[in-house]
Amino acid sequence: MKAISILLFLHFFFSSIACFVHRGQFPDDFLFGTSTSSYQIEGAYLEGNKSLSNWDVFSHIPGKIKDGSNGDVADDHYHLYMKDIELMQSLGVNSYRFSISWSRILPEGRFGKINSVGIEFYNNLIDSLLLKGIQPFVTLSHYDIPQELEDRYGAWLSSQIQEDFGYYAEVCFKAFGDRVKYWSTFNEPNVMVPDGYLLGTYPPSRCSKPFGDCPTGDSAIEPYIAAHNVILSHATAADIYRKRYQVKQGGSIGIVMTTYWYEPLRNIPADHSAAQRYLAFDIAWFLDPIIYGDYPPEMREILGSRLPTFSLEDRRKLQNKLDFIGINHYSTLYVKDCMFFPCQSNTSEGEMFAVRTGERDGLPIGTPTAMPSFFVVPRGMEKIVMYMMERYNNTPMFITENGYAQKSSPNVPMKDLLNDGGRVEYLRSYLASLTVAMRQGADVRGYFVWSIIDNFEWLYGYTLRFGLHYVDYDTLERVPKLSARWYKQFLHGSKILKQKGNGQHLSS
Ligand code: NOJ
Repeated sequence: MKAISILLFLHFFFSSIACFVHRGQFPDDFLFGTSTSSYQIEGAYLEGNKSLSNWDVFSHIPGKIKDGSNGDVADDHYHLYMKDIELMQSLGVNSYRFSISWSRILPEGRFGKINSVGIEFYNNLIDSLLLKGIQPFVTLSHYDIPQELEDRYGAWLSSQIQEDFGYYAEVCFKAFGDRVKYWSTFNEPNVMVPDGYLLGTYPPSRCSKPFGDCPTGDSAIEPYIAAHNVILSHATAADIYRKRYQVKQGGSIGIVMTTYWYEPLRNIPADHSAAQRYLAFDIAWFLDPIIYGDYPPEMREILGSRLPTFSLEDRRKLQNKLDFIGINHYSTLYVKDCMFFPCQSNTSEGEMFAVRTGERDGLPIGTPTAMPSFFVVPRGMEKIVMYMMERYNNTPMFITENGYAQKSSPNVPMKDLLNDGGRVEYLRSYLASLTVAMRQGADVRGYFVWSIIDNFEWLYGYTLRFGLHYVDYDTLERVPKLSARWYKQFLHGSKILKQKGNGQHLSS
């Protein structure tokens, strides 16, 4: 035991000299937390009157998920949430980002009753978090929606979804808003939409050739319609929150985007502008309309009338904008121009005349991780935060996800998974890079590690592990990894936040 402590001490000591970062470099009221999402951890997929979500249906289709798994049980957080809160308390985090399962609250969307069992589950979760001094940071839709809405009217392809999302958001504001002060409408719509409607790899598996091979869909048109409805659903929820709840409840509302940082593959003007173009197609696609009221010029120039237009009423709603931008950041990639140079373009990228790659002259951009497109490139954190700061006038930002994937299979021994020095180095170096952006004035207010526990990683099932805690999927036991000890040590001395009536926070 003593030898392990000495080794741990030496490990932390020497690596912290290499890349020094400590809690004191962040403001006292900075949120430090961990992130999850309902489908990835809850399980209990048919308990408590919950209906099927689009992901329940999709993951049950043979061949969709790498290891043939699904989220039926996942981490069984639905039953074990108190254990998970204890893990968070032991780390010393002051916030927890999680998502609400829409189909647990409204099994039939706005066409049926509010499910009181679902409301009770999240009430218990929220109350238990607050008792431990942990602020809930809640996402309304993290990819999952009631399948009913897909079956009735085609979900994001229909403008009806704006009414459904607004109704769902209001049910949540009403039920939980007295205690929840941070709301995100969507998690990564810039993954959900292209994967669902351009490539067809996520539900509802719609696409057309040459973008993907799906039985039905139109990759040239549908992604832009679906995105339009997501943007206006955000605006609808923000409108309801601002008009009826924000003053009384004193919280804030934002949206969470996935954000790669992109660097030019070659030091030539065409690759420099291709990298900028990629950022616009990836991030500004959603954020420009929400913050500036229209699609980015970089997209309009190429897509023309394929991008829908906003009506006067849409523009009125869009004036509600957002209070913060959530940044999920994991990696940096190179971008190569295909507008002036011929490329063997991966079809999904043909739209923006640019391709992404993780390699230059056969060398990876950073140490590869178990997730194919995630490389360890700490400088990307500073760069992406500065990009957001400049493009969006330093709107307050939260790093809503940052994390490191380990490969998992029956052949990988548990002790190797527990000894996750790679994750420790990753988190430390990305946090250090974040401090560089903050010293340049970036208004960043929180940071969340993905994830508190290993969980269901979408198309990869349980073959990838992102947790600070290892989960034994046979017994559901949670075991802290080295990274959990590191985060705990990093947070040591962090202040517990007490909530004031107006939603502001006081350090105690
Ligand atoms: C982003 C997503 O929000 C989350 O659901 C996913 O598990 C992580 N990234 C890791 O890929």
